[in-house]
Amino acid sequence: MRRIASFGLVACFYLIIISTATGQTSMTNVLGRKLTSLNGKWQVIIDPNDAGEGVGIGKDAKAKGKTDFLEYSFDETTTLNVPGDFNSQMPELTYYESSVWYKKTFTYHKTDKRLFLHFGAANYIADVYFNGEKIGSHEGGFTPFQFEITDKVKEENSIVVRVNNQRHKDGIPAMGYDWFNYGGLTRDVNLIETPATYIVDYFVQLKKASLNQIEGWIKLSGNKAKQQVRLLIPEAKINYVITTNDTGYAHYELKAKLALWSPWQPKLYSVQIKAETDSINEAIGFRTIESKATAILLNGKSIFLKGVNIHEEISIEKRKAINEKDALQLLTAAKELGCNFVRLTHYPHNEYMVRLADKMGILLWEEIPMWQNIAFGEPGMQSRMENMMKEMIQRDQNRSSIIIWSMSNETRPTPARTASLISLASVVRQKDSTRLIASALNHINFNKNVVTIDDSLCSVLDVVGVNAYLGWYRQWLAEPKDYVWQSPFNKPLIMTEFGAEALYGHHGSADTASNWTEEYQEHVYKDNIVMLKNIPFLSGTTPWILYDFRSERRMNGTYQKGWNRKGLLSDKGEKKKAWYVMKTFYDSIP
Ligand code: GCU
Repeated sequence: MRRIASFGLVACFYLIIISTATGQTSMTNVLGRKLTSLNGKWQVIIDPNDAGEGVGIGKDAKAKGKTDFLEYSFDETTTLNVPGDFNSQMPELTYYESSVWYKKTFTYHKTDKRLFLHFGAANYIADVYFNGEKIGSHEGGFTPFQFEITDKVKEENSIVVRVNNQRHKDGIPAMGYDWFNYGGLTRDVNLIETPATYIVDYFVQLKKASLNQIEGWIKLSGNKAKQQVRLLIPEAKINYVITTNDTGYAHYELKAKLALWSPWQPKLYSVQIKAETDSINEAIGFRTIESKATAILLNGKSIFLKGVNIHEEISIEKRKAINEKDALQLLTAAKELGCNFVRLTHYPHNEYMVRLADKMGILLWEEIPMWQNIAFGEPGMQSRMENMMKEMIQRDQNRSSIIIWSMSNETRPTPARTASLISLASVVRQKDSTRLIASALNHINFNKNVVTIDDSLCSVLDVVGVNAYLGWYRQWLAEPKDYVWQSPFNKPLIMTEFGAEALYGHHGSADTASNWTEEYQEHVYKDNIVMLKNIPFLSGTTPWILYDFRSERRMNGTYQKGWNRKGLLSDKGEKKKAWYVMKTFYDSIP
């Protein structure tokens, strides 16, 4: 799907987009399926010049005669662990941004089942070869994709995947983003067997603004499209029969008396979708989320979102977060801060995070990586962002913890950007009418101590996020208590980023930013909280950020050394003084 190289201004006027077969959108609830894990050691070839496609690595061939030879080969000793970023696994790959070729073989005994090869994610582009044949590609580093291999699988099989994490001007994200560009097969890889006609997608949630009506749909894939399907929620005495049409689709609505999911009571129900040829189970919570004027309503009641930003990283080990244990560490640290809300920045995190948030009762903001310098209006951009948004929603649409889908972060309000995001918002609403749509903005009007939210994109948002680093990137022009925030949009505001840097254990003056002291960071937090308390339409806060995190662009040789030090916790999880300021603030909110 990656565009052919642009030839220069004139020639690319009719840029031809030659897209290879793309990965299919992942089936819903992979974790509810019978999986054969392909996790573990994969053989690899490091391909810094990205020459592998040209020499045919995907074919995984062997020299046959006396005169032929191959200038590549996988060997038993050069391996990487999957899932996992490749940067943290080999010293020579620490800052690597190019291609790594992965290989895995497996034996399979044919059955009457359909067989899928499923990737939790691969950053940034993946080209997938199966038994020497290219079966497709996927672009986007943070959402799942799959390929049906039913008709291609043999007794002995070989998978070869080229994963390339180079940045692209028209990528999502694009070039200079402020987090570490971990590349590779960063999430689980599985084989999934399904019946010939299987439940490929379904939505089971409360109808928008209803506390006792479930509305959703079921989608079957396969020849036996018309089937009787039961929606079973035994604990709620629901045994509801639906009949799919000749495309395998059925919409349904039904009354339901349910204990509502919330941070205080994260009630999950065992839900079974039972068709004639397939069935699948999962735990689902039921709640409603709405915005009404400047309030956010959870189950009809106003809630203040006490949040924090989290990157998908285990800082102490300098690696991507990849599994349930990692998710537990990150979300437990958020809970300890007093959070009922987490902004998963700046991309969809792994599925363990969202499923654990369901269990722990943590509300989530999830976003696609439309970070700052996105090439809005360029050929292919709209479909690229729509694909990423659809893949994110498809994976997580039945997660009660997710209340907000966010489209962008700090994108400049050009006409192309605003038109593009207004169009994207309608795609999101069409895919999921039940959740709130947001963006995190930072191009708003600061006129001394008067701050006006004047980004026209707000007209299509349900919730407005603002990133404002008063006391760090932007100096105070008045006392924090004298700041006046105003907005013509009458919508809830979440202060989605604020804070400052500090090196844990480094102490000194509270009034000099360039010393990176804990006292300076603490001072910034105290000042911001004074200001935040005076914003009448504020419905939530997510300080930037829970942990110090890696970012190649943070190059202060004394305090940063490749780390962004805005964490409330150090990279080792040590609490800075500012952590206690936020904790006290959150504990003061009922
Ligand atoms: C921005 C951006 C973050 C970044 C942060 C910072 O607002 O959204 O991704 O890390 O500021 O500069 O630390």
